[in-house]
Formats: sequence, C-alpha cells, structure tokens
Amino acid sequence: MPAITATACGKLILLGEHAVVYGSPAIAIPLTSLKVRTTIEPAIGQPQGKIHINAAFLNIDHDLGELGKDHFLVHTLNLLFSFLGLQQLPTCRIILTSELPIAAGLGSSAAIAVSLLRAMSAFLGHPLNPQELNSLAFQSEQAVHGRPSGIDNTVITYEKPIYYQRGEVIEFIQPIRELTFVVADSGIRKSTRESTSQLAQNLATDLDAIQPHLDAITELVQHSKRSFQIADLEALGKAMDANQEHLAAFWLSCPELDALILAARKAGALGAKLTGGGMGGHMVALVTPETETAVTQALISAGSPWVFATHLHPME
Ligand code: MEV
Repeated sequence: MPAITATACGKLILLGEHAVVYGSPAIAIPLTSLKVRTTIEPAIGQPQGKIHINAAFLNIDHDLGELGKDHFLVHTLNLLFSFLGLQQLPTCRIILTSELPIAAGLGSSAAIAVSLLRAMSAFLGHPLNPQELNSLAFQSEQAVHGRPSGIDNTVITYEKPIYYQRGEVIEFIQPIRELTFVVADSGIRKSTRESTSQLAQNLATDLDAIQPHLDAITELVQHSKRSFQIADLEALGKAMDANQEHLAAFWLSCPELDALILAARKAGALGAKLTGGGMGGHMVALVTPETETAVTQALISAGSPWVFATHLHPME
C-alpha cells in the first residue's frame, strides 16, 4: 500500500449557530486556507494490525490500543472499519497535523474526522464518496459533541457554502460577488460540547426567555439567504449584528469576543459576531476591500492574538 495524504478544511458559521441544533437554518462557508492534513504510511516490519498515531497538536504519539476505544480518533477509525466490514486492521503509521486551532469555533474536530476518514479509506483502497464521508464524520462528531447539528461535517466534507437545516436536503448557495471576512481569535478556548451543553441546560430551566431568541434567529437566517446570494452587504451585516445580540442574550458571547466585535464595527465592518460554539473562540466580521485593512488593524490593536482575512469567491 502506498503512503496517502488527505486534507480537510475549516469552516465559518456566518449565521445561525446553536439555533441550528434546535432545527433553525444556518449559513456556513468553508475556510479553505486552513487545513488538517493526514498522512498514512505502511509500517513495514511492525506486528500485523498495529496502528501508530502521531498528532503533536493533540499531544498524541501512541499506538491505537493505548488510546482506548472511547478516544475520538479511535472511535472515528472504528466507524470506518466497521462500515467497510474490515476483518484485519492495517499495519500503518498515521500522522496528523493541523493549521486549525482546537476548541476555537473553526471546525477542527469535524476537519480532523473528515481528513482521517478520507486518508484511511483511500489507504485501504475504498475511498468514501461524499455522502458516506459526511455520514461517518457526523457519527464521529456525535461522539465529540453529544448533539451536533451536522453543519460542521457537512460544510467541511463538501467545501462549499451551505444553507443548512437538520433533516432537510443540503442547499449549496453562492454569492454573486466576492465576499470578504476578517476573522479574529479571542484567545479563549471553549469546546463546543461545553457551549452546547450550557445552552441545553439554560433551555431546560429558562425556555420562555430563550425561545423567542431562537425564533428570531430562524427568521433572520431565512431572510439572509437571499442577502448572501445577491451579496447585499448592508443586509447581511445587519443580520450578523442582530444574530450576535441574540447569541449574547443567551450567554454565548464573552467580554473578549464583545471587545473584538465592537472594535471591528467601529473600524467600519458591516457586521460582526461570534462564530461557532462561542463563549470564546473566534469572531467574524463582514468587510469590504476598502475596510479590510482598517478592521484587521483594529482587531490586532484590540488584543486579538491572531487575525486573518478570508475571501469567498463565487463558484468556490
Ligand atoms: C458549532 O460549530 C456549531 C454549533 O451550532 C453546534 C452544531 O451545530 O453542532 C454550536
């Protein structure tokens, strides 16, 4: 078996995170400049079926058996092995590297799953088709997050902007003109499991206060599909701002994110909000080519340890 390398990108949720878990639609785009990369090479001379994993960014340099079957990498590989009906494990070494920070709202867990499943299925001579890949990555996400909506694995599998609603046919959407976003790290790490559990708990105790916000998010995402498609920056920016207020109302923002969001708006962003799980992680601002530099500078001055721009081209 020759060595195989496969990659998967990150993602940005523009509108509708968290509400999407409860059935609202959401809009997400791929972050194609940031990748998780998996290389699998045969391990000649090693005992049959021995799999070694090296993932320095996860502090892992272990044989599969040492990690235990509940570890999400082992679980993800086992999902694939049982899907393929594999009798005998391959003897190999897996090397994972990532440009995506963990627990930061950019889809690292889904990207790890997609890249690992892509690489291992190709290494075994049975490359998965996108539907199979998406379905196994979703099952991997269930082990990591408990109750994922499926938006992360879907946008990462297909690497296209999506209008996503649980249980509905995936809708691929395109802007007619290039859209530019500036993304900034709050420096706080928070797992999606933590933020989604927090919201579930709050919903259980305070449904009456939170439900109107979820309903409002549903409505604004529905309206924003067209704003995204026709690249109506004013309307899209306003929707992002409004979405942020609803997320903040149920405690998914944090002071560090609030400061960055305010700085981006003051510097001319058309809209700004947290992206992904929140309570930390990254924020995203909608900008124009004219305001991109000013917003970037403002976010650096406001203390973000990492700021970058991403350009979404039509037909990407
Ligand atoms: C995480 O990227 C997005 C959330 O809506 C969770 C999910 O949809 O699975 C917070």
